[in-house]
Amino acid sequence: MGLTMLFDPEPKKRIEDFFNMREELKSFLQSLRKGKLIVVTGLRRYGKTSLILTGLNASGLDYAFLDCRLLPSGMISINDFLNLLEDELNKKSWAKKLLQGVEGVSIGSVGLRFRGGEKNLFLRILEKMEGKVLVLDEAQELRRTSYRLDHLLAYIYDHLNVKIVVSGSQVGLLYRFLRIQEPEAPLFGRPYLEVRLKRLEPQKAEEFLWKGFEQEGIKVNREVVEEAVSRFDGVIGWLTYFGYSYTRNKYSISKILEKASKLSLSELNHALSIYNVGRKRYLEVLKIVASANQLRWSGIKRALEAKEGKIPNNTLSNILKNLMDQGFLEKTNEEYRITDPILKTGILKYL
Ligand SMILES: Nc1ncnc2c1ncn2[C@@H]1O[C@H](COP(=O)(O)OP(=O)(O)OP(=O)(O)O)[C@@H](O)[C@H]1O
Ligand SMILES: [Mg+2]
Repeated sequence: MGLTMLFDPEPKKRIEDFFNMREELKSFLQSLRKGKLIVVTGLRRYGKTSLILTGLNASGLDYAFLDCRLLPSGMISINDFLNLLEDELNKKSWAKKLLQGVEGVSIGSVGLRFRGGEKNLFLRILEKMEGKVLVLDEAQELRRTSYRLDHLLAYIYDHLNVKIVVSGSQVGLLYRFLRIQEPEAPLFGRPYLEVRLKRLEPQKAEEFLWKGFEQEGIKVNREVVEEAVSRFDGVIGWLTYFGYSYTRNKYSISKILEKASKLSLSELNHALSIYNVGRKRYLEVLKIVASANQLRWSGIKRALEAKEGKIPNNTLSNILKNLMDQGFLEKTNEEYRITDPILKTGILKYL
């Protein structure tokens, strides 16, 4: 196996390459042992996928990992979902043998093929995955389907010996999909364990960068490290992005900040595309919050109305709730702020 460096952009998969986050890893592994449903949350680039993959590999359990971001945009069909599962199971050495004889699954020289249009095929496959783990990474994407996945998850929970790990960077949307707290919802009342990822403390973030630079054999000034830590605010994915761009592409800090903030802006645009024509107003709200550092509800309303005319209270409340559920805004003591400083820069400079 090739050597992985801290600044390599792919999610980390091995404990040797996994920096810090011992507490979170421990609690993930404990949850895997004890629980049936594990929810891993954290904003973009907080290290969710790395934690899940490293944890699962360390646990020795077999798993199928579905990256729900790979699903097509718009409404998701059961076939889209089955295709994702087919691709993943084709990478697993245990899958072929396990799925032999399952109706709707053919096994040829090129590998597994799932017959399309089969609503129950997913369940038949999962029934065979006894003792294994199903990972739905970025599971909030599964909201976009008319197929009742929440029922299916509840069924798996109640009847199959398969553990489920779901993750999401749009934490509010993830819980809106799972609906664990809603009495009429299928998953209601099922115990679950949440592992919540945070940013690194500044000292840890510095340590991460020093370690990464050392691996790359590159000498840097203390000021560079300090500036990067303050700009990228302990978000491990941004620190990795910085380290990679600085050492491999030889970009300056300001160039990296520019690229990073443009990247986060394009991710924002993509995430807001679900609101169609309403998108412009979402962007306007974000711009208002970004330029004021922090604002209360009434301040946002005043500024938005100055630009767009009268806005009903519940319309604005909805926008703010959606933006918080997607992780772009956070509210403390009734004041709203942009969560990610890099996105904030992007909004202020390039929107
Ligand atoms: N514990 C860690 N040790 C070393 N590198 C890490 C760690 N966690 C994350 N990274 C690096 O940070 C970046 C983001 O990590 P990862 O993809 O796991 O996060 P994520 O929360 O799943 O991100 P996204 O929201 O984009 O899916 C990757 O480049 C990964 O290699
Ligand atoms: Mg991820």
